[in-house]
Amino acid sequence: MPADEVIVPLTRRPAPRDTLARPMRDLRISVMDRCNFRCPYCMPRETFHEQYRFLGSHERLSFDEIVRLTRLFVQLGVRKLRLTGGEPLLRAGLPELIGDLTALPGVQDVALTTNGMLLARYAEELKAAGLHRVTVSLDSLDEAVFARMSGGFGGVAQVLEGIEHARRAELTPIKVNAVIQRGLNDHTALDLVERFRGTGVVVRFIEYMDVGNRNHWSSELVLPSAELAARIAARWPLVPVEPAYRGEVAARYAFADGHGEVGFISSVSQPFCGDCARARLSSDGVMYTCLFANHGASLRDALRGGASDDALLEMIRAIWLKRADRYSELRASLSPEAHGERKVEMFYIGG
Ligand code: GTP
Ligand code: 5AD
Ligand code: SF4
Ligand code: SF4
Repeated sequence: MPADEVIVPLTRRPAPRDTLARPMRDLRISVMDRCNFRCPYCMPRETFHEQYRFLGSHERLSFDEIVRLTRLFVQLGVRKLRLTGGEPLLRAGLPELIGDLTALPGVQDVALTTNGMLLARYAEELKAAGLHRVTVSLDSLDEAVFARMSGGFGGVAQVLEGIEHARRAELTPIKVNAVIQRGLNDHTALDLVERFRGTGVVVRFIEYMDVGNRNHWSSELVLPSAELAARIAARWPLVPVEPAYRGEVAARYAFADGHGEVGFISSVSQPFCGDCARARLSSDGVMYTCLFANHGASLRDALRGGASDDALLEMIRAIWLKRADRYSELRASLSPEAHGERKVEMFYIGG
């Protein structure tokens, strides 16, 4: 048995490994399917308009339900939690949930992914509730490009102010995620590097992914990370850095002059399924074992149907034991029809 194997106290059985021997270490919880942005690559306006039917509040998991399920995930090996959306800060009372989650024995890291618009308002409260760190999405510092990437909502100044408040509240290490689309915002990527170099904030560039079915993804819009890294290195020489933990999504590079680091999340050009230990819980309590899944299992229905903790544990364990997902590794070999198969949307499953 590997040295880091976790013994599950309740069932006295080892934590599950999937069919590719991957443990379950990371749980990404979407707490809200709505968002105050309409990024065309995620929630294009033509689909997510005023008549779009988002979840009703009774359909979303309550905080008690999220905490109960998370406790079970922790018993099965999860150590890292990430709260996502949609936009998680739109969920009323979020600090209360964070307080309960950070207090769970076994939880080592609790992070939040946000578009930053409400961060200035909530940073202190989130920190006081026990949140460890935030990751802020910011695709460009150029106001016009930002507006194109966000669907016309929000503004650069507010997001920067949010980051500043997070820094003051010590929600660190702060990361900035920028989705890069060739021809749309790649010409502003170096400005982001320049702005955050030497500030302690780590910028990470994400290759545009074919998540969901509605963002008109095309491989021509993907700027391979190697190309972007070369552009950055031509101005600020880079040296590769070891991953911070096994299965880290971002490839890390330090600036040779010691002014911090940048990361590249290259799901398209360099898939990282081999070490993927991430489970996902949608805001209505469906468990997914891959960002590109086309179906999941409703833990909410089981829970609301009266399932015991033991029954839920067995359900989650069985799902993980059967897991064989490695979509990004298979992407290149998939037929066009397979690409067109219905996949869950990113805003719903939480990125
Ligand atoms: P850290 O704990 O800070 O290292 O977070 P992380 O690297 O998991 O990053 P984060 O949660 O900020 O994820 C950044 C982006 O990477 C997401 O928004 C997705 O776009 C992408 N991503 C994260 N996890 C996966 C994954 O399992 N598969 C794929 N294909 N992309 C992912
Ligand atoms: N490709 C890559 N990243 C995406 N995100 C949302 N949609 C996509 C996509 N199609 C990112 C957001 C944010 C996180 C929640 O997911 O920019 O950083
Ligand atoms: Fe909202 Fe983030 Fe999706 Fe943009 S990428 S629409 S900010 S959830
Ligand atoms: Fe994990 Fe699926 Fe992403 Fe591969 S494509 S890293 S299996 S979530």
